[in-house]
Amino acid sequence: MRIDIITVLPELLQSPFNASILKRAIDAGLVEVHFHNLRDYTTDNYKTIDDTQFGGGAGMVMMIEPIDKCISALKEERDYDEVIYMTPDGETLKQGMANHLSLKENIIILCGHYKGVDQRVRDQFITREISIGDYVLSGGELGAAVLCDAIIRLIPGVLGDETSALTDSFQDNLLAPPIYTRPREYKGWKVPELLLSGNFPKIEKWREEQAYERTKERRPDLLEE
Ligand code: ADE
Repeated sequence: MRIDIITVLPELLQSPFNASILKRAIDAGLVEVHFHNLRDYTTDNYKTIDDTQFGGGAGMVMMIEPIDKCISALKEERDYDEVIYMTPDGETLKQGMANHLSLKENIIILCGHYKGVDQRVRDQFITREISIGDYVLSGGELGAAVLCDAIIRLIPGVLGDETSALTDSFQDNLLAPPIYTRPREYKGWKVPELLLSGNFPKIEKWREEQAYERTKERRPDLLEE
């Protein structure tokens, strides 16, 4: 998989891709992530990427020309499955969307800033608009990092234990059950006896029940979906 991220703040995006699972996935060649600084696609001395709104109103708008130049240059090199725009008014990111996107070959992610992009960018180039939640960030970069993390960890071979992504919270619309590790007892707080019993069918059943109870209590909306 190849991910091209278009941003005005590439430095903000470096560290999430330079550690842990994402770095390992990149080093292993399972995913390529490329950052494109939108200012490299400007033509004026000031490297202008935004301007005031037509019709008046507070806040700057990202201009279409540098974005068009950047996306068109990428599209000349290869075909893209999706051109995603990170925006608070997009579709809310869910596990199912990450699963779906993890199967794609090439995707572009455009990070918005200020008031956002000229509507014509959205109309002409964007195939999917994604929000990471109902709050407004200063820009799309952190959202893009969250989206990439959710996608990349699902690519086969990225997680050491192939089954572990499947047992994550949300994979079956259930939250994950409680988990424990050594010691068996700490300050008198004990691990549930059943987990030490070696009775794996019973343990599995207990986990399913716990997942269901936890979901019912914390996220009943997931059970309705
Ligand atoms: N840009 C600003 N806020 C955002 C959000 N909630 N999700 C994605 N991109 C954003």
